Amino acid sequence: MDYFECIQKRFSCRSFKEEKVSKEILEGVLQAGLLAPTACNYQPERIVVVEDPSIIERLKEATRYTFNAKTILIVCHDKNESWHRGNDGVDHGIVDSTIVATQMVLALTSLGLASCYVCSFKEKLAREILGLSDHLHIDIMLPIGYPKEVLPHNKRKDLDSIVIYK
Ligand SMILES: Cc1cc2nc3c(=O)[nH]c(=O)nc-3n(C[C@H](O)[C@H](O)[C@H](O)COP(=O)(O)O)c2cc1C
Repeated sequence: MDYFECIQKRFSCRSFKEEKVSKEILEGVLQAGLLAPTACNYQPERIVVVEDPSIIERLKEATRYTFNAKTILIVCHDKNESWHRGNDGVDHGIVDSTIVATQMVLALTSLGLASCYVCSFKEKLAREILGLSDHLHIDIMLPIGYPKEVLPHNKRKDLDSIVIYK
């Protein structure tokens, strides 16, 4: 699939078919994440693949947005490994995670699968449920799978209202 077709086709999927994502597809998608650029190429991202139904059930304590996905990718960054900008110390790990997540989301779209970016969750509780150490920060959850229904993405503003030329 052509890149522009892929970004047109991506939409936030909130209902998935029963069919599980195969190991082969999952590995291809994770590879797409691995190819993402990161600040200084520090590669602070960590991706937790949650397939255990009992863990997915427990994650529902931390977020309403697991939908009915059989697989959830939890994109984190290691705060000890991410690039912190020299002049103000801002941690750019979330930026790295966002690019990693986006490359995976677009890879899924190109393969006829779908996902939804989920950031509305209780971060500390989710970390405890997953048994992750304190230096990992959960940035994005991606419930993934085959869409029950293929939908258009939400409407966007006009280009004129978001672009500022100087
Ligand atoms: C950073 C980010 C966080 C989001 N968090 C959630 C979320 O917690 N729950 C949810 O249902 N959708 C979430 N979304 C999905 C957005 O609502 C969706 O992308 C937006 O409405 C545009 O729709 P579209 O993705 O179909 O184009 C999130 C999207 C982004 C980019």
